[in-house]
Amino acid sequence: MNNGDFERKDVPGPGTCHSIHNSQSAKDVDEPSASWVRRMISGFRIIKYIKQFVRRQIENFCISLNAISFWLQHRILKQTPEKKRAEKNLLLPLSEMDQDLLGMYIRWNAHHTEKTVRYKKNVGRGHAKPQLLRNALDEWHRRGYPRRKWIEWAEENLVDYQIWNQSGEPQIHPEKELPAFHPASPIIDVLFNRVSTRFWKAAPVKDKIIKEIVTAGTYAPSSCNRQPWKLYIRRNLELEETSRLPGVSNETLIDRAPVVIYITIDNRFYPEVWAPALDAGIIGLQLSLAATANGLAGCLMYGAENFDQEEFRRLYNVPKYQFMYLLFLFGYPAERTLTEKRSHPDDISIYV
Ligand SMILES: Cc1cc2nc3c(=O)[nH]c(=O)nc-3n(C[C@H](O)[C@H](O)[C@H](O)COP(=O)(O)O)c2cc1C
Repeated sequence: MNNGDFERKDVPGPGTCHSIHNSQSAKDVDEPSASWVRRMISGFRIIKYIKQFVRRQIENFCISLNAISFWLQHRILKQTPEKKRAEKNLLLPLSEMDQDLLGMYIRWNAHHTEKTVRYKKNVGRGHAKPQLLRNALDEWHRRGYPRRKWIEWAEENLVDYQIWNQSGEPQIHPEKELPAFHPASPIIDVLFNRVSTRFWKAAPVKDKIIKEIVTAGTYAPSSCNRQPWKLYIRRNLELEETSRLPGVSNETLIDRAPVVIYITIDNRFYPEVWAPALDAGIIGLQLSLAATANGLAGCLMYGAENFDQEEFRRLYNVPKYQFMYLLFLFGYPAERTLTEKRSHPDDISIYV
């Protein structure tokens, strides 16, 4: 694969020497055949220009098709092939799900249950997910599949749900704060303790620490070492204890998080389709690990097509070629979600 190695057309290369050689030898041939050669060359040139022209038109047509397709899917149909596929699989009867799909379905519903019970009940967030989760867990047990840690985690979220259902109060676990980490903590401890947190203390994060976290971000690998990141950093100066907020919708979190980092990628040098998103994800993880190592905690958040990129560009004066894939929100944690929700290594490894 070319992997992003472009060849510059303006650098003299073997082709240029070759054409000089050709023009010198053309002097030696007699006049009639020289004009015939010239006609041939100009004929080839015309064909080349026509080809280039047609090619450019097809390219423009493809770009327009992409834009039209995006517009139709997002503005008119409000449906994409990806959404359609996910919906179809989410609606599959449990008995038709294979073990992997059932596992993902349980984790998905447990995640949503975990978020639901962090609202006050009167916010009216759905009760459907916990019921779906209960049924899926019963199916898992009925089939005699292993009782992995994340199954326990899903069951614990249902316990939270029952308490929430009776009390109506958000089920947040402030007593389970992160262990006290500092930059010299063993990296493996940091890795095993990174966890998403959506509630923060009303404590600002010092600029020096933000800079340290960003510095750690710059050590992230990037495809072809492009280091294409531009991080737009918003510090929220009017802080209040987020555990008193009515909910954890993405909008609320962005408004209330002590620090929000919008991760954008300069997409001007990417011939690959997926590399920009991967580069954004990798620096996102690096930032979140660095935050954990500094005793902070936060939450990555999907940007991309879920976000109004135009509005974002306008708000922060972002150039058109920077695309915001991901956000990282963080601060000093006021709660800790349950960490023991991890896959078993045997369930995800296939030695080939
Ligand atoms: C690419 C990506 C996008 C995410 N988007 C959101 C989001 O929009 N809102 C949110 O609350 N959490 C979001 N998260 C956080 C996940 O919900 C969280 O990582 C997941 O539940 C696993 O929990 P953990 O981070 O504690 O391991 C996102 C995470 C990733 C990696």
